[in-house]
Amino acid sequence: MEAGKKVLVIGSGGREHAIVKSLAKSPKVEKIYCAPGNAGIALDAECVNLKVDDVEGIVNFAQRHNIDLTVIGPEAALVAGLADAMNAVGCKVFGPTKDAASIESSKEFAKQLMVKYNIPTAKYESFNDYDKAYKYVQTLKAPYVIKYDGLAAGKGVVIAQDLEEADAALKDMLLHHKFGTGKVIIEEFLQGPEFSFMCMVSGDKVYPLELAQDHKRAYDGDQGPNTGGMGAYSPVPFVSPEMREKALNEIMIPTAKALVKEGVPFTGVLYGGLILTDEGPKVIEFNARFGDPETEVVLPRLESDIFDFFNAVIDGKDFIPQWSHDAVIGVVLASKGYPGQYAKGAEIKGLDKVNGEVFHMGTFSKEGKFHVAGGRVLMVTAHGEDLPDANANVRKDIEWIECPDLFHRTDIGKAVLK
Ligand code: AMP
Ligand code: GLY
Repeated sequence: MEAGKKVLVIGSGGREHAIVKSLAKSPKVEKIYCAPGNAGIALDAECVNLKVDDVEGIVNFAQRHNIDLTVIGPEAALVAGLADAMNAVGCKVFGPTKDAASIESSKEFAKQLMVKYNIPTAKYESFNDYDKAYKYVQTLKAPYVIKYDGLAAGKGVVIAQDLEEADAALKDMLLHHKFGTGKVIIEEFLQGPEFSFMCMVSGDKVYPLELAQDHKRAYDGDQGPNTGGMGAYSPVPFVSPEMREKALNEIMIPTAKALVKEGVPFTGVLYGGLILTDEGPKVIEFNARFGDPETEVVLPRLESDIFDFFNAVIDGKDFIPQWSHDAVIGVVLASKGYPGQYAKGAEIKGLDKVNGEVFHMGTFSKEGKFHVAGGRVLMVTAHGEDLPDANANVRKDIEWIECPDLFHRTDIGKAVLK
């Protein structure tokens, strides 16, 4: 067995903490760096003070330290061309090129690809012009789905319940340029439960991971503003094995093949944000990276060596991952006020009493104590024989954590816990 491998993980959230912890289980991995990492990640890896889009700095670091594998977490690093730059100097990297990452960074690119290759998704039209967009909306039935085509920090999607709301969103995006000067996409509204299907992809080879479900709204009962994700669980019992196969064969594999045909082969995680409609699974969005917080509930179920898995994918070799039958539920502890304004600095106590795994999303440490540093602060996860068992365990763990400035949802996984 080859041991003594050095790995560099790019990013600073719960997702990267989960990737680091998974890599730490590999007997082949001797040293893990994380750029820039966070206070929790620093317990499991050596944090390196480099920004995720500092392409030159990261490439230099990887070369200087003879890094055997770099794993890219966030989209910002992909869009900055980090994978391209690493490939150009022959450094092994897990993550798509900037062009392949367009499947996430340009909604129009993703939509055109899906139409061209018959991949099931909502019907859509795209607009630059406010008048034309408003005329089109008037021909549709409510609710209206209006999306800004470009980076909008997760706030670029409006589900308008009536024409007035739709009009306000179109004005914001096309007349007032709230997010920039990009186009707007208006979509058919799809109905059904959503789930996340992450697949590792190497060209036209697809290695599916276990399913997860995210909870995007801030408050219980799926109320309140959209967030980066307030909790997740895996597996997802409402998606039958047949529906998963259908999603794999009709969505994920055809999309990987389509990217090859378009001359932008994809290496990394292709994340399908899917919705289970009466007509079967359809695509809401694609991401070009591991989901956060889905990764924190999926990777802990992986029993195979993730270092081997990453390398097999990059090399396009066969690899059949083994998964635990355990269920995992994770609950995000966020700063009161998130996703709006929130206070930083409060001390977090009781972390040492938690039985399950805690992934740090936004903390800093001072004199050996952890403090609030971000909107999403911690993800507390627990295993169980099944989802109700995992839920009971995670609820007990959350009770241990003391911090007056944090809140969390109490209904993660509720739809499947009955
Ligand atoms: P997106 O940023 O495209 O993932 O959209 C954010 C959220 O808006 C999704 O998770 C869905 O809950 C909702 N959404 C987006 N597009 C649609 C659609 N066509 N029909 C229904 N809901 C949608
Ligand atoms: N959890 C959704 C995302 O990672 O974009």
